[in-house]
Amino acid sequence: MDVISVIRTKRDRGTLTDEQIDWVVDAYTRGEVADEQMSALAMAILLNGMSRPEIARWTGAMIASGERMDFSGLDRPTVDKHSTGGVGDKITLPLAPLVAACGAAVPQLSGRGLGHTGGTLDKLESLRGWRASLGNDEMLRVLTDVGAVVCAAGSGLAPADRKLYALRDVTGTVESIPLIASSIMSKKIAEGTDSLVLDVKTGSGAFMKSVDDARELASTMVELGNDHGVRTRALITDMATPLGGTVGHALEVRESVEVLEGGGPADVVELTLALAQEMLTAAGLPDADPGKALADGTAMDHWRRMIAAQGGDPDAELPTAREQQPVMVPASGTLTRLDAYAVGVAAWRLGAGRARKEDPVQAGAGIELHAKPGDPVTAGRPLMTLHSDTPETFQYALEALAGAFDIAPQGTEFAITPIVLERVT
Ligand code: URA
Repeated sequence: MDVISVIRTKRDRGTLTDEQIDWVVDAYTRGEVADEQMSALAMAILLNGMSRPEIARWTGAMIASGERMDFSGLDRPTVDKHSTGGVGDKITLPLAPLVAACGAAVPQLSGRGLGHTGGTLDKLESLRGWRASLGNDEMLRVLTDVGAVVCAAGSGLAPADRKLYALRDVTGTVESIPLIASSIMSKKIAEGTDSLVLDVKTGSGAFMKSVDDARELASTMVELGNDHGVRTRALITDMATPLGGTVGHALEVRESVEVLEGGGPADVVELTLALAQEMLTAAGLPDADPGKALADGTAMDHWRRMIAAQGGDPDAELPTAREQQPVMVPASGTLTRLDAYAVGVAAWRLGAGRARKEDPVQAGAGIELHAKPGDPVTAGRPLMTLHSDTPETFQYALEALAGAFDIAPQGTEFAITPIVLERVT
């Protein structure tokens, strides 16, 4: 097989054959196809798309590039959640222990931040001692003992995706429905979960800006999961504005702990409970009561055990940034828009994100939001507070935030967008 003919087929809007797909994914994983050739093919896929059968075959080839995990020996059903990425999206932190507290096992393989979006592993690493990398045996042990584990995918799981994902990140080829769907689903299917709930984000802070694209991505992934025997469903959720009141690693851990203590921002609580209910229903436990587990402390108990089982100290003081700078409200009124993408980029510039994949992140960096769309705001009071160890970045964050919010005169009619927009099964 020759790679140039595969690239030409997709460049000229053709359909790749099963043999072409199997060969190119395998040859790229082995290093026979070069990065520049795969990036040309990824760009052709981004521009010209793939049919559903092509996506299914591509996903199968990515799964076949590595090992498959097996949790069938557990005495509880397994269910996982995956978000397509957003700003302030800390939901996994309260959700995994909450669902475990309700009787399901949650094997949550998570990622690091990508571009302006945050990553669960980076957030949890702000807890002193917590380890993201576990061997398969250790992962199974934590899952058995605690009922929930959040860790990095091992190097043996879908290695084709690991390589291709890093390449897409630096070649402008992330925002492609076939490539995102196959990337996410190859890892989730290889992980061996019984069921899966997808949180497909839409809005300025998401990779899918329009609801139509989010719906297409959701239905592609739901079909892929179900075809591989993973009971899969999706919620399409709003990411026009950041989730909760904080963006940044330690700031978001603090807020997640507030949710587990029975408080926390209303939107984070609402989405956590909606996803928990979907996960428990998908896992065959529709009568479980996640609201009760949150209120009576059992979810918090699972959180503490989950963090401790991975070497973390749930009681350790969270890191804080060395410097803070408020951003003032320019005029009194009602906040009607706070742009998730701009806030994500600003937090990234403050040190919460990476310029290169090997860069460290600042655990304390990020943004505290003092108002959300719909809230009244008063001129001269802080609208948000920037946090960073590197105060020279404040000006770059402020540049990202220029034009990021609208304030309407007090009394202006304003309808709050619901968090859960659609359900795809
Ligand atoms: N998350 C993934 O795992 N892959 C993508 O392509 C996008 C988000």
